Amino acid sequence: MFRNMIKENDPNNTEQTTHFGFKTVDKDSKQGLVRNVFDSVAKKYDVMNDVMSGGLHRLWKDDMIRVLRPESGMRLLDVAGGTGDIAFRFLEAANKRHNAGSTDDPANDFEAAKATVCDINAQMLDVGRDRAIDRGILKNIDWVCGNAESLAFPSSSFEAYTIAFGIRNVTNVDKALAEAYRILKPGGRFLCLEFSKLDMPFLDKIYDAYSFHLLPRFGEMITGDRESYQYLVESIRQFPPQEKFKTMIEDAGFKQVTYRNMTGGIVALHSGWKI
Ligand SMILES: C[S@@+](CC[C@H](N)C(=O)[O-])C[C@H]1O[C@@H](n2cnc3c(N)ncnc32)[C@H](O)[C@@H]1O
Repeated sequence: MFRNMIKENDPNNTEQTTHFGFKTVDKDSKQGLVRNVFDSVAKKYDVMNDVMSGGLHRLWKDDMIRVLRPESGMRLLDVAGGTGDIAFRFLEAANKRHNAGSTDDPANDFEAAKATVCDINAQMLDVGRDRAIDRGILKNIDWVCGNAESLAFPSSSFEAYTIAFGIRNVTNVDKALAEAYRILKPGGRFLCLEFSKLDMPFLDKIYDAYSFHLLPRFGEMITGDRESYQYLVESIRQFPPQEKFKTMIEDAGFKQVTYRNMTGGIVALHSGWKI
C-alpha cells in the first residue's frame, strides 16, 4: 500500500527527512502516509485497540483521566483524539464529579466541562461522532479536523491539552509541543500518553515477538491491512524514550515535567504545566 508513496532519501539529510516506521521519508510525505494508515484502519480501530492491548488501553486512558481530574467548566483540547476515547472519559468523569458534589441549592449552578477533539483524519472523527451519538453524548463536544502542528485555536484558550497515542505520528513533534503550550491558559495542564521504552528487561523479547510477529498478523486478520499495523509497531520503536521526550516537553516551555511508566514502560504518561 505505501510502497509507491515512499521516496527513498539520503537518511543522513535529517533536516528534510524523518521516520515513517523504520523507513526514512521526506518530511513532506509523512503526514499523507500517516493519513493513509488511519483511513485504512478507522472503521476497525476501536476493535483493534482492544485486541492489540488485551483491553489494557482502557486502563491506561482511565489513568490519564484520573490524573487530569476533570471538573465543571474545564475545557479540554484532545489532539489526535481519533474516535473520542479520551474526550468521552473526560466528560463522563467531569459529570460524575459534579453530580457527586451536587445539592439542590440553586447556587450550585455549574458550567459544564467541554471537550474539543482535534484530529487530522476525517474518517477517525466520523467514527467518533457516530460513537458519541450511540452514547448519547451530544452536548459539550466538538469535532475539529486539524493538524497538531498548527492548531486553529486562539492562544491561552484551554485548561487542559491531552494527546494519547498520537504524538509519535506527528512529523514535527517540537511544533506540536509548541502549539500545545500556546493554546493552554497559564496554569494549564499538558498530558501525553504514548508507547515508550520497557523498563523490565526480561519482558523485551516477549514484547518484541508479540509486536513484530503477532500484531501485524492480527491487523491483517481483522482489518485486512498488515502494513498499517507494521507501521504502528515500528513507529513505537522510533519514538524517543521517556527521559528524552521529557526534555523535549521542557524545551517547549513546560514546567514541572514528570512522567510515570505504566505496565513496565510499555506506555508512559508525561505531564507538564504552563506556568
Ligand atoms: C493511534 S490513534 C489515537 C487515537 C486516540 N487518541 C486514542 O487514543 O484512541 C492516532 C491518531 O493520531 C492522528 N494524527 C496523526 N497525525 C496527526 C497530526 N499531525 N495532527 C492531528 N492528529 C494526527 C491520527 O489520525 C489518529 O487518529
